[in-house]
This record gives sequence, C-alpha cells and structure tokens, in this order.
Amino acid sequence: MQHKIVLGIETSCDETAAAIIRAPIDADGTICGTGDILSNVVLSQIDMHAPYGGVVPELAARAHLSQLDHLVAQALDEADIALDGLDAIAATAGPGLIGGLLIGLTTAKAIALAANKPFIAINHLEGHALTVRLTNATRFPYLLLLVSGGHCQLMSVEGLGTYHCLGTTRDDAVGEAFDKAAKLLRLGYPGGPEIEARALSGDSKAYALPRPLINGPQEDDDCDFSFSGLKTALRQQAEKLQPLSDQHIDDLAASFQAAVMDCLAERSAKAMRLFSARHAPDDTTPWPFVIAGGVAANQALRTRLADVAEQYGFILQVAPPALCTDNAAMIAWAGAERLVADRMTEQPMAAPAQARWPLADLTD
Ligand code: KG4
Ligand code: ZN
Repeated sequence: MQHKIVLGIETSCDETAAAIIRAPIDADGTICGTGDILSNVVLSQIDMHAPYGGVVPELAARAHLSQLDHLVAQALDEADIALDGLDAIAATAGPGLIGGLLIGLTTAKAIALAANKPFIAINHLEGHALTVRLTNATRFPYLLLLVSGGHCQLMSVEGLGTYHCLGTTRDDAVGEAFDKAAKLLRLGYPGGPEIEARALSGDSKAYALPRPLINGPQEDDDCDFSFSGLKTALRQQAEKLQPLSDQHIDDLAASFQAAVMDCLAERSAKAMRLFSARHAPDDTTPWPFVIAGGVAANQALRTRLADVAEQYGFILQVAPPALCTDNAAMIAWAGAERLVADRMTEQPMAAPAQARWPLADLTD
C-alpha cells in the first residue's frame, strides 16, 4: 500500500498547531481507510486571552509568530520525518483572524519553497468537515453539523469540495453562545467546557429559556439557527436572581445547555429528513451524521444527537474531542485529500489569507 505524508499548519484563531499525518492510498490512487497521525502538536493561547474573556487578534498573531517555527520542528521531530520525507505542506488560509492566517500561510509557503514540495491552501471549515474521514474513514455522502466558536451550520457533504448548506446561524455561532453565556455567569474562557461541567450539577428544568426557531414550519427546507434571543433570556434570568449562588449558576448552565441541545437536535432532525429525501436510500448501512468543531467535544450533546440520529436512520460519527477542537492534523488530512484527488488550488503560492471564506464557496 502506498502513502502520502503531509505536514499541516493551523494558526487561524488561538491555537498554534503543526501536525504530520500519513494517508493510505489504494491501487486506484484514492484514499482508502483511516489515516495515521504521526505527530500532532497544539499550543493553546487560552491562558493569554482568558483575562480578556475572548481572543485578542493582535496578541494571537504575535504568539503564533514566536511559536510556529519551534512547533513545526517539534512535529517533524516527533514524527521522525525530514522535510524531504513529506509529500506536501498544507496550511489554513481562512476563515479566521487575518494576522494569524498570514503567519501560518507564509511559513508554510516558505517551507514548501525551500523543500521543493507542493503547498496546499486549506479552508479551516473543510478541515473540521473531513476530520471524521481521518479517524473513522467515513464515506461520502454524509450529513454534517459543524459547531464551533465561529460557525454553526448543517451541511450535506456530497464529496471532497462539494458542500451544500442546509442551515446556518442567523446571529451567534453556538460556541460563541456558550462563551458569552459563560462570561455572563462569570465562568472561565472558553465557555463551552465550563458550562458543560457546571450543567452536570444543575437542574436543566430550573428556568424556562426559549428555543428559537424550532417551532417554525416543517414543510420548507430551512434549517437555520438563532441563539441571540436565548442569550438575552439567560441574561435577564441571571439579573433577576442576583446575587448568583453556586446552585443558581449550575441551574442556569444546565437550563442554557438544555435549550441549546433542543435547538441543535430539532434542526438536525429536520436536516436528516431533508438529506434522506434527497439521497437514494442505502439499505445496507445508515447514513453517517457527523458532528465537528469545538462544540462537538460536548459529551451531553453527543449523547443527545446519537439518539436523534438513530431515530432517523442515521449513525452518529464524531472524532475524539482533541480532534474536534482546533488542531493541525485536520488541516494536514484535508491537504492529503486534496493532494490525492489532485484538487489543489491553482497557483497555490499566490493563495491569499481570507478572513471570510464560507465552506459552500468551495463547491464548483
Ligand atoms: O473549533 P474550535 O476549537 O475553534 C473554532 O474554530 O471556533 O471551537 C471552539 C469553541 C469555543 O466556543 C468553545 O467554547 C467550544 O468550541 N467548546 C465547547 C466545548 N468545548 C469547546 N462547547 C460546548 N461544550 C464543550 N465541551
Ligand atoms: Zn475551528
């Protein structure tokens, strides 16, 4: 069996990351099976941004600049690979914070030039979307719920580079909603893991918070989300309860998380019905339903969506939590997929950093 070995670099937000993966290739020249992660180094800047309750772009870019070279060296070292042993170098070109993107992109292009290897510009969201093929060899097509700090989308993933959006958020991304809720309850940053932990000791029925958009018409094909009304309701409830006791915080966290999960579950169920109606039935195996992005690390959400998937004839597939949050293995893997399929950007050395780059824009 042949392999392709790719170095990935990720600097789009507050994680500086470098990783090397090996993708198996069959006799037809297509990827067959799961990949091997030879190294996966992630340096989180969370402690640096935590006092500000969110990512400070200028600080993030400076930290990427001072750390990236060492991290790439460490990733090569841990994988026991020299630059010569790589088949390609991939880096996140967007969407994300422009300063960080420029640092990762320029570093990757310089390495590619020096080593005389192809460079591949990767969309960060495509990295999240394809991670499950690295870990589970999930076949196309599948339904994807992408839930991160900057995104909340339901997509039909038809194949590499073919993504149809079924629903998106009209205001806040779901991870952003978790982060803002945590800030309001004076919990740490990032908020998702904090809310999840506090919700474990809270009563999810303590406060009746709204579930925006889920009681809309079912005949249309709108699977959009909205979280800003829920955030406002949480704030108003918290203001009524001042001063907040630990029990109040646990109950508010549990009530908030339950409302978010109801929204994600109902919207996903609607998307499953649409996906099933648009694809010829496959009698042998259920369709994969994939959750990706940082919020997919939430265990309560995984359990809930596994039930919804089963109810609608799908099977839940999720990468391990460390590969749900930002990392470079997902960028290296997306690079390998594009290298093997010969679907690389034209003139990759001229690929720009793009603060905004919707996944659906990749679809021909
Ligand atoms: O994918 P990611 O690492 O970065 C972006 O591309 O945005 O996602 C980060 C987001 C943050 O908003 C964080 O609060 C959320 O994912 N998150 C979680 C959990 N772990 C991370 N949200 C809910 N529950 C979690 N366990
Ligand atoms: Zn991400």
